[in-house]
Amino acid sequence: MTVQIDTLPALRLLLAEQRRQGKSIGLVPTMGNLHAGHVSLVTCAKAQCDFVITSIFVNPLQFGPNEDYARYPRTLPADKTVLETADCDAVFTPAVAELYPAGLEQQTRISVPHLSTLYCGKSRPGHFDGVCTIVCKLFNMSQPDVAFFGLKDFQQFFLISRMVADLQLPLSLVGMPTIREASGLAMSSRNGFLNADQREQATAIFATLQHIARLIRNGERDFPQLERLALGQLAAAGLRPDYFHVVDRTSLLPAHSQSLELVLLTAAYAGSTRLIDNVTVEAPVHG
Ligand code: PAF
Repeated sequence: MTVQIDTLPALRLLLAEQRRQGKSIGLVPTMGNLHAGHVSLVTCAKAQCDFVITSIFVNPLQFGPNEDYARYPRTLPADKTVLETADCDAVFTPAVAELYPAGLEQQTRISVPHLSTLYCGKSRPGHFDGVCTIVCKLFNMSQPDVAFFGLKDFQQFFLISRMVADLQLPLSLVGMPTIREASGLAMSSRNGFLNADQREQATAIFATLQHIARLIRNGERDFPQLERLALGQLAAAGLRPDYFHVVDRTSLLPAHSQSLELVLLTAAYAGSTRLIDNVTVEAPVHG
């Protein structure tokens, strides 16, 4: 049985009882509309922790004024069924007023400098401050031993890891691989916005990432040229590319000539739906 709670006092009470019983606590923060990617997080959490709580909260602080906060899919009854099936112990479903009792304007914010202004942060100013703030609050509220995130949001996971290190928060993080549809399209709650044509166009995102990764593995190192090639491929498929960057995944900064551990980060619009994806790639060492 998945217990549902929606207030902070109820959350604290429930988790204090688990801790009193000596149980380790795993937290899976989500915005709901759960898909196979989320299920993989819960499954991993169940394997590692005695008590697993999933939070479902569409966080207004991480959406810009012209973004899709209002139309973001909210599917709580279906989500609860998914969590029951995944044997999740509890689900935390707070209202906005529960987490932001003083309103959004006056909310203290957590900001990871510089890195949160690159890539997705450049197109979505303030987005990562909203993410880090809510994630830090969820960590404080539930004090998990381990928290689980999907690596589709590679930059998000990197920034949360940096926040945890910088604030010396007492928990560990697990990043889980992206789960894909048969077409290669990364699972996302926003895929539900796509019509059949856009869904087809969107397959070019992973195909392009794989193509560029192959070229790098084959020794190509002109990263600006590869980025231009990728943007062209995304556009040719009918998408509106936002960015495509070859990034050093040890620093999250643009890759330089010595970078070997890379991640290709991209975002592109299919119609009005913004999709993100990434693949990691090791550059060959030149002798
Ligand atoms: O990845 C998400 O779904 C959200 O950004 C998160 C981490 C739950 C914070 O609202």
